[in-house]
Amino acid sequence: MKHAGAWNMLMAAVCMALLGCLQAQELQGHVSVILLGATGDLARKYLWQGLFQLYLEEAGKSHSFRFHGTALTSTKQGQEVIAKVLESLSCPRDTAPGRCAELKAQFQQLSEYRRLKTPEDYLALSEDIEARVQREGLQEAGRIFYFSVPPFAYAEIARSINSSCRPGPGAWLRVVLEKPFGRDHRSAQQLATELGSFFQEEEMYRVDHYLGKQVVAQILPFRDQNRKALDGLWSRHRVERVEIVMKETVDAEGRTSFYEEYGVIGDVLQNHLTEILMLVAMELPLNISSSEAVLGHKLQAFRALRGLQRGSAVVGQYQAYRGQVRRELQKPDSFHSLTPTFAGILVHIDNLRWEGVPFILMSGKALDERVGYVRILFKDQAYCAQSEKRWVPAQSHCLPQQIIFYIGHGELGGPAVLVSRNLFRPSLPSAGWKEVEGQPGLRLFGRPLSDYYAYSPVREQDAYSILISHIFHRRKDSFITMDNLLASWVFWTPLLDSLAHEVPRLYPGGAENGHLLDFEFSGSHLSFSQPPLEQLVPGLDSAPMPSDFQVLRAKYRDSPLISAWPEELIARLAGDIEAAAVQAVRRFGQFHLALSGGSSPVALFQQLATGHYGFPWAHTHLWLVDERCVPLWDPESNFQGLQAHLLQHVRVPHYNVHPMPVRRRQRLCAEEDQGAQAYAEEISTLVTNGSFDLVLLGMGTDGHTASLFPQSPVGLDGKQLVVLTTSPSGPHRRMSLSLPAINRARKVAVLVMGRMKREIAMLVSRVGREPKKWPISGVLPDSGQLVWYMDYDAFLG
Ligand code: BG6
Repeated sequence: MKHAGAWNMLMAAVCMALLGCLQAQELQGHVSVILLGATGDLARKYLWQGLFQLYLEEAGKSHSFRFHGTALTSTKQGQEVIAKVLESLSCPRDTAPGRCAELKAQFQQLSEYRRLKTPEDYLALSEDIEARVQREGLQEAGRIFYFSVPPFAYAEIARSINSSCRPGPGAWLRVVLEKPFGRDHRSAQQLATELGSFFQEEEMYRVDHYLGKQVVAQILPFRDQNRKALDGLWSRHRVERVEIVMKETVDAEGRTSFYEEYGVIGDVLQNHLTEILMLVAMELPLNISSSEAVLGHKLQAFRALRGLQRGSAVVGQYQAYRGQVRRELQKPDSFHSLTPTFAGILVHIDNLRWEGVPFILMSGKALDERVGYVRILFKDQAYCAQSEKRWVPAQSHCLPQQIIFYIGHGELGGPAVLVSRNLFRPSLPSAGWKEVEGQPGLRLFGRPLSDYYAYSPVREQDAYSILISHIFHRRKDSFITMDNLLASWVFWTPLLDSLAHEVPRLYPGGAENGHLLDFEFSGSHLSFSQPPLEQLVPGLDSAPMPSDFQVLRAKYRDSPLISAWPEELIARLAGDIEAAAVQAVRRFGQFHLALSGGSSPVALFQQLATGHYGFPWAHTHLWLVDERCVPLWDPESNFQGLQAHLLQHVRVPHYNVHPMPVRRRQRLCAEEDQGAQAYAEEISTLVTNGSFDLVLLGMGTDGHTASLFPQSPVGLDGKQLVVLTTSPSGPHRRMSLSLPAINRARKVAVLVMGRMKREIAMLVSRVGREPKKWPISGVLPDSGQLVWYMDYDAFLG
């Protein structure tokens, strides 16, 4: 024991000595902050103030500082701008005016402006820093380069820093980057690779200033500190929906050159709202201070996001935008911008926790109010036997139950966390948060403020000040890693592509928007609640007239043709399939439906999943017309599409679902594994005469159908019901029903949609039965019926 005591004392002494050394070292640590773009908007509005804040918090503790504002502006001009900015800095509220003036003077003394343009300028800066450090007997701790410049300038600056302005050994380098980080997945990746050739990931701090907002930064800690109370609440069993909203009253005037490139999705949804979505939806790590664990869980949540479809979004553009673009970008009067300044998005997360819960993301410029919030609305599962006048907010389960992370502005005027009193009393760190004082008459989300436990920060702080402090303290969890960034772009890029030619709904701006931008959802589909106001869309004659929605009946290749606008067509086809199902079940007790994959049937699946309550799913067998030789969980698998858009929403007994066996013995479509034969046997066993009640086909631009391709004789005739084939485009290996199997069906529906199909539709209308050249032309049921369903784009061009 005695021994141990002596040992402990010795260790304590060593530790003290070490700590002393470290402190002594740190005390001499000199930090240079180089603000690039120091005369720009962001720097003037937020960054200088953030740096001043950093100085107030850290100077005198252990580090000395120098702040180098830099830009391309001439020295004289730059100095004038910076002098003005420094003069306008504000001190914390409780600082006496005299003290404030003193602090500002100290900060001004430590700040300078210099022009930074050429690699030589960077070298000179580096030499100046080194000389100063030496002169003052300091040791260099590190350099922070804050890029407040447009992204096209990143690479050049990065190269100069890397080659001429890195600190010497033992000192760190941190570069701070502001969004936009690319415009889509490809450009983001390019930028990441480029920057990666100059800096290590560890050195880069990608800012999303929403992560510095006090309430946003509180989401994970709140979930952590209230684990017990939230355990039974934070999932699809209790959550009705989640709304993540950032509304702005300002418009994009003065920024249209930026805004034209990014629109509201690139500007706000891909970053701020997506980050918030992740904080709400991710599984909570055991230790939320571990950045690796947080990132790992975030990436897992990204992977569970259901892909966005065109129908997952509604987009709008404020009326004055087009004129502002024309003026600012010198475009002719004929120029029409399709850039959305408003977007509502419906996100679904396909995991056990969130399956079926709608997450609504919404943001826009020129709206009626400025406010940001996350609202988690819980399911109303109670029936209250007492009269409403006796309901007590803290007890009644018939009042709405919600948790709101109020990011700022709006009626409340500042950040707050609100929890309905009938849920639970939340715990928030008492040091930083206080109960909000009552504001008589104030109602939020349908209830008086008094219905909530409401907490706000004791000291409101600007997001940038917080993030600058986190950069200094190397708190990387408040920044966007490359994996995180790319995962977000993987999610958003397909939607951006599909919206590229979409005409956004025009809205007047401000309170006059009325209900024009209200939207509603059904299944995975979003739509505006109101029809567009015609006077708002002068010259945009893309809105079809009601008379256009009539269904056209005609003949195509001597078989019935149904033609309509896409929505009408899909509705018609879904109705016909349901009618066939009901009839088959009535007569035979079951319905055998063979479905094809690809993009055309997606809308049909969604329609069947959401709108057909009379569909006899319990008696329906689902078969695949064809399949790609990839595992069934691969996004390219046809079965995966069926699963995502239909199966998970309807109740088909599992034993009635018949995916094609493309993967046997850990191999994909190996002849010797006899997958095609096995599927054929399954069909023969379960489907009378191998004759499906309905086969749904598509038509490729080369005339292929199912996975029967031109110039490849497999599956066009013979006895085999199922064959292995080769596609000219990847994945090349396929399994497919053969033409004879298709032609045994009682009914075959061919769905053809989109302008891209126009040419082949025209060609096939004229050719005879030549399946070798155009396999679709070989579709003609032996004794069943063939019906063509074509939208106007495919049929009329
Ligand atoms: C920025 C966007 O990231 O966030 C702007 O580029 C938007 O378009 C701004 O106005 C909103 O930030 P805040 O902090 O004012 O809510």
